[in-house]
Amino acid sequence: MTSKALPPSHTKLLMFSSLTPVLITSLMSSASPESSKPSKHSRKSMLPSFLMSHSPQCKEEKNNHLEKMAEQIATLCDTLKEYPSIRYRNGSEDCCLLAHAVLAKLNAFKADNPTMGEGPDKSRSQLLIVDRSYDLVSPLLHELTFQAMAYDLLNIESNTYRYESTGISDSKEKAVLLDDDDDLWVQLRHMHIADVSKKVTELLRTFCESKRLTTDKANLKDLSQILKKMPQYQKELNMYATHLHLTEDCMNAFKGTVEKLCSMEQDLATGADVEGQKVKNPMQTIVPIVLDHNVEPLDKIRIILLCIFLQNGIKEENLTKLIQHANIQQERGILYNMHLLGAALMPEEPGGLVKPVRKVRLEPTYQLSRWVPVLKDVMEDAVEDKLDKSSWPYVSCPAPGPCTQTAVSARFGHWHKTKTATEYRTGPRLILYVLGGVTMSEMRCAYEVTEATEGKWEVLIGSSHILTPKQFLEDVQNLTPQMPPKH
Ligand SMILES: *[C@@H]1O[C@H](CO)[C@@H](O)[C@H](O)[C@H]1NC(C)=O
Ligand SMILES: *[C@@H]1O[C@H](CO)[C@@H](O)[C@H](O)[C@H]1NC(C)=O
Repeated sequence: MTSKALPPSHTKLLMFSSLTPVLITSLMSSASPESSKPSKHSRKSMLPSFLMSHSPQCKEEKNNHLEKMAEQIATLCDTLKEYPSIRYRNGSEDCCLLAHAVLAKLNAFKADNPTMGEGPDKSRSQLLIVDRSYDLVSPLLHELTFQAMAYDLLNIESNTYRYESTGISDSKEKAVLLDDDDDLWVQLRHMHIADVSKKVTELLRTFCESKRLTTDKANLKDLSQILKKMPQYQKELNMYATHLHLTEDCMNAFKGTVEKLCSMEQDLATGADVEGQKVKNPMQTIVPIVLDHNVEPLDKIRIILLCIFLQNGIKEENLTKLIQHANIQQERGILYNMHLLGAALMPEEPGGLVKPVRKVRLEPTYQLSRWVPVLKDVMEDAVEDKLDKSSWPYVSCPAPGPCTQTAVSARFGHWHKTKTATEYRTGPRLILYVLGGVTMSEMRCAYEVTEATEGKWEVLIGSSHILTPKQFLEDVQNLTPQMPPKH
């Protein structure tokens, strides 16, 4: 291995929204042409470790990266014709720096295009800048919604799901791209797996009935019979077959150890069990998993981290013992590196993150999906205009106050702007940018909050990359070339 260089540059901006996918895709491809050709060797983007470093040459590197990110975010706003007020998570210096950088770029766009951000209710639009350390729990959990579950449990590379088809068509090995062109995927991806199986069969039955073909079971076996009767609908039926397979694969991976892990993870994440009883002794609770030879090292690490976060740190000697018993010496760097993200690993460490106060939610939910990503609280508070002003300070003043920031005269960027009819949307937008990667559960939250406002608001969320739990842990491991010195 060569000496540890800085991670590949974060020149990519991925934005997700349930309402304007067309726009988002085009912005992505114009903003990062190099990312469109997939390469086996280029590692997916890593957490920006330069953000944690204070050495002088890293400082320049860091500023360059923040500038690039700022330019991309401002370009997104320009494309959306939004001039949002900008807020950041108080306590993160990088969020603050990025927020100010975005403001400068945004004002340059505004100077060129004074009508930016005009329109009914547009003054309520907000851009929130937050970093990954704000919620370290969400990237660790086994999620049971379709997309997050599939990406965590199955081997999905480059958004392609591969499976062996059984009798539905001639070709055996199938490779299906999971993207916005797949209507069924768009409809199902944020649903809980228990609802997905019901929904696919229901949709398949409806489809068959609309073609005047009755079917009693509408399952995979049935499907090959249906296909024989209606070969002209091969394309549609293949789509149903794919999602029936995907559901089945997810469920098969879930049964066994993952099911056991889920309930413990939920207890540790929320701090209480299904009955609402407080978890009394987290360390004791996780012992069976730690000692279980059938549990994968990374799954053990997910559980151990949740335990550490719940009890606000762990004694060094206890951590050493856990690592020994879990037999995860190779992966222990992940645990030790967590403090680089601001997590208090040892109880005596100063600082440590202040945990945000969580909303009490009374709506019924699945027992294994009780955790709600912290950013969902933030999104809901933001659209209700209840977001705390000292936890989320403004760098540009809130509407309708006089935003008298003088425009920066320099011109930035040579981005190709892809203007299409879908871009203009009346009504305000909430745009969240997460430094250090966004989880699929958070993408789902953006979708859910948009839905809950009945389209009054559009919530967009984005980052440099998407985090699956595995990707997150790899990112954290890669923050240092070797174990940091003990202190
Ligand atoms: C650490 O281990 C000691 C005994 O070795 C125990 O008394 C203590 O409760 C443990 N600490 C935590 C946080 O579990
Ligand atoms: C950030 O939070 C601290 C501590 O709560 C507070 O004193 C400070 O005023 C806040 N900063 C801003 C800009 O609101």
